[in-house]
Amino acid sequence: MSYIPNSDPDVVNPLFSPYKMGNFNLSHRVVLAPLTRQRSFKNVPQQHAVLYYTQRTSEGGLLIAEATGISDTAQGYPDTPGIWNKEQVEAWKPIIDSVHANGGVFFCQLWHTGRVSNSSYQPNGQAPISSTDKPLRPLGSSNNTNVYEFTPPRRLRTDEIPHIVNDFRLAARNAIQAGFDGVEIHGAHGYLLEQFMKDSINDRTDEYGGSLENRCRFTLEVVEAVVNEIGAERVGIRLSPFANYAESGDSNPKELGLYLVKTLNKYGIVYCHMVEPRMISVGEKVESPESLVPMRKAFNGTFIVAGGYDRQDGMDAVAEDRADLVAYGRMFISNPDLPKRFELDAPLNKYNRQTFYPSHPDPLVGYNDYPFLY
Ligand SMILES: Cc1cc2nc3c(=O)[nH]c(=O)nc-3n(C[C@H](O)[C@H](O)[C@H](O)COP(=O)(O)O)c2cc1C
Repeated sequence: MSYIPNSDPDVVNPLFSPYKMGNFNLSHRVVLAPLTRQRSFKNVPQQHAVLYYTQRTSEGGLLIAEATGISDTAQGYPDTPGIWNKEQVEAWKPIIDSVHANGGVFFCQLWHTGRVSNSSYQPNGQAPISSTDKPLRPLGSSNNTNVYEFTPPRRLRTDEIPHIVNDFRLAARNAIQAGFDGVEIHGAHGYLLEQFMKDSINDRTDEYGGSLENRCRFTLEVVEAVVNEIGAERVGIRLSPFANYAESGDSNPKELGLYLVKTLNKYGIVYCHMVEPRMISVGEKVESPESLVPMRKAFNGTFIVAGGYDRQDGMDAVAEDRADLVAYGRMFISNPDLPKRFELDAPLNKYNRQTFYPSHPDPLVGYNDYPFLY
């Protein structure tokens, strides 16, 4: 079927201007946001992910893989992938090869859930680890199909923190060995790194708690270790200072965000990926007086924004220099050819929240079966 574009061919769409992100030549600005899909049985990426990621690959497009566990204590949900052992590294290879064969640039999001977990996902049924021993209240899933119950966490001892930093380092090394172009450190959404950074959670009295500098120390140690291992040009980070997922609010998110980006400049990492203040809770867009522009201005590398963007909004963000790149989540779930559709200003498939995570006897329903434009 041929499609007659709505877009005026004489008007340059800012989302389709080429962009050099460090050493990577991108041909457009539409990024696949990291999206947990819970189809990696027993924490091992599966063959069906080859098709899923390949469908979402475009020549010169950036893809960020779903959150991927750095160690056997990192998981908090069923069937999320890991990258801490050989079997997982091998399983990622055909997925990455296929993305590369189709011209994509592929980063792996490195994840530790911390207290957003349950002892059933932990080795020997132990308690999840965190900055704190404060428990989390149960939380509804973002597709509203189930409720997550969390086991009260165990506060990490100061002398244990270097081991977790090292797990991030080894996972980054594994990601590069598997063939990823780089890694995105998951410093967002109430997971382990935010459990240290946000003052509503961190109640430590050691050098990892109290002042802003102390609360950010662990995250910056992870950044430094990963940069030393694989090189700053391969390291990005995702941050959500304004979000409040999993009871992760902060009393001064702007100060936190600015401190982080300014300090990150010292490490020369390739990108900072920030979640819009309007995404204060999972999947819900609200009005917010806050803006990421001060952080965008203060950060020296590539700035990626995410959260509630549509085509026009993304075009405006790039045109007004509020972002270099725009990451899309839910629209990319239901539109594997999202960049093509945005280029042509074509209609979009609607997403089905019920199948964000498997909710059907066939786990592939809602995964790699959304139709292409042509
Ligand atoms: C099903 C689903 C899974 C997600 N998984 C992740 C994830 O693994 N890592 C992450 O940082 N954000 C995750 N997010 C958040 C998205 O990356 C994105 O920031 C969010 O959906 C807002 O962007 P959107 O309005 O374009 O969907 C997820 C969101 C959804 C809906």
